[in-house]
Amino acid sequence: MEFSLKNEQQQLLSKMATNDGHGENSPYFDGWKAYDSDPYHPTRNPNGVIQMGLAENQLCFDLIEEWVLNNPEASICTAEGANKFMEVAIYQDYHGLPEFRNAVARFMEKVRGDRVKFDPNRIVMSGGATGAHETLAFCLADPEDAFLVPTPYYPGFDRDLRWRTGMQLLPIVCRSSNDFKVTKESMEAAYQKAQEANIRVKGFLLNNPSNPLGTVLDRETLIDIVTFINDKNIHLICDEIYSATVFSQPEFISISEIIEHDVQCNRDLIHLVYSLSKDLGFPGFRVGILYSYNDAVVSCARKMSSFGLVSTQTQHLIASMLSDEAFMDKIISTSSERLAARHGLFTRGLAQVGIGTLKSSAGLYFWMDLRRLLRESTFEAEMELWRIIIHEVKLNVSPGLSFHCSEPGWFRVCFANMDDESVRVALRRIHKFVLVQGKATEPTTPKSRCGSSKLQLSLSFRRLDERVMGSHMMSPHSPMASPLVRAT
Ligand SMILES: Cc1ncc(COP(=O)(O)O)c(C=O)c1O
Repeated sequence: MEFSLKNEQQQLLSKMATNDGHGENSPYFDGWKAYDSDPYHPTRNPNGVIQMGLAENQLCFDLIEEWVLNNPEASICTAEGANKFMEVAIYQDYHGLPEFRNAVARFMEKVRGDRVKFDPNRIVMSGGATGAHETLAFCLADPEDAFLVPTPYYPGFDRDLRWRTGMQLLPIVCRSSNDFKVTKESMEAAYQKAQEANIRVKGFLLNNPSNPLGTVLDRETLIDIVTFINDKNIHLICDEIYSATVFSQPEFISISEIIEHDVQCNRDLIHLVYSLSKDLGFPGFRVGILYSYNDAVVSCARKMSSFGLVSTQTQHLIASMLSDEAFMDKIISTSSERLAARHGLFTRGLAQVGIGTLKSSAGLYFWMDLRRLLRESTFEAEMELWRIIIHEVKLNVSPGLSFHCSEPGWFRVCFANMDDESVRVALRRIHKFVLVQGKATEPTTPKSRCGSSKLQLSLSFRRLDERVMGSHMMSPHSPMASPLVRAT
């Protein structure tokens, strides 16, 4: 019955409407569903799930609100700004308001330490970075063509680049043994594998700073990547939407800097994706930017941009805000101070109970190492542990599997989408999880890197394990050989 209904539905709708390419069934989105059905609130639902699966930057809204109050003319919905209402509301140039493109280009330069220049005429608007990625995929690849992408990578790339275009993403496998760095060998191996499978590689998708790792790429690696794509004559999309979230050394180096100062390459192959969703914390405004060094791509993307323009009301407000350079300097520096403080608080708190994290200097999250808590080194065991963390510890962290990580046991933890009190509650829960259910040995220092945690969990955890998973979900090795019992 269910089968025939599904079949009927499939005939009624398009293949696109009935395929699974959006990826909403991945564990990444499952965690959000768990949060949505039982969201934490300090008074109304103190035992609810804390959302630590959302890379949102909420740490500077006090400053933003102050700016909005001090600059009422920036909005067309205030007494001071209403005289611009009609001008903003009627059709405007699809290329974007000139003041908006100028201000965005200037902001992008500022975030890159004024070491590079951006031409406002190469800026194309899109609905967030999401829209920019899809537009680029449509411009650069045909169905079945592939882009190489280092793992672990942001799960949304599958939706953004693959779903509606029909192109593929092929992993460049990176490992914890060298802190998940991309190497010449790994790039070459992925390329060869594609060739053997007769898949046409059209490009390389890079995300720097990385989501989920929180790391930035060093100059040598960036030079290697540009040399690689140039030699193979394939495109490079560089997603730099976390460029202003860098909160400690090493500093961020943009791909633009590399091609301007470090290595000769065919610039027609280089394309940047940017948005204000992370650096300023405005994902709701859907301000996405595609910046291409290739004239034909700029021209084609501009035609496509009419499917995902940023509203002129938003452009108007953003142009004013970004043009206030003193304010932007303040936001960038305050945001990085606050991110550093939050990151330190969290990672030190975890180190106290022996949980290690990958050393990182950017992003709104860190990459937590729970490999020693796994029953065995498999993704099934990772999912078991993740279910416990979601349903018992009540934290929505995201499992490495959803980021295509090649090794089980890593989890992404977001730390900038909540207030200080929620942070304290989350840390208390994690401490309890480890200390009450187990016994921590050899606390690590805040400098600890991946693999340095030593956890030893007691038998009492097994009862929790059983309760959560239920007998039908227990592995054949359970209960006496529970992973959490064996881990040392
Ligand atoms: C690496 C990366 N690219 C793109 C996006 C999508 O950004 P936007 O909200 O601007 O569409 C995200 C969102 O989390 C991301 O992490």
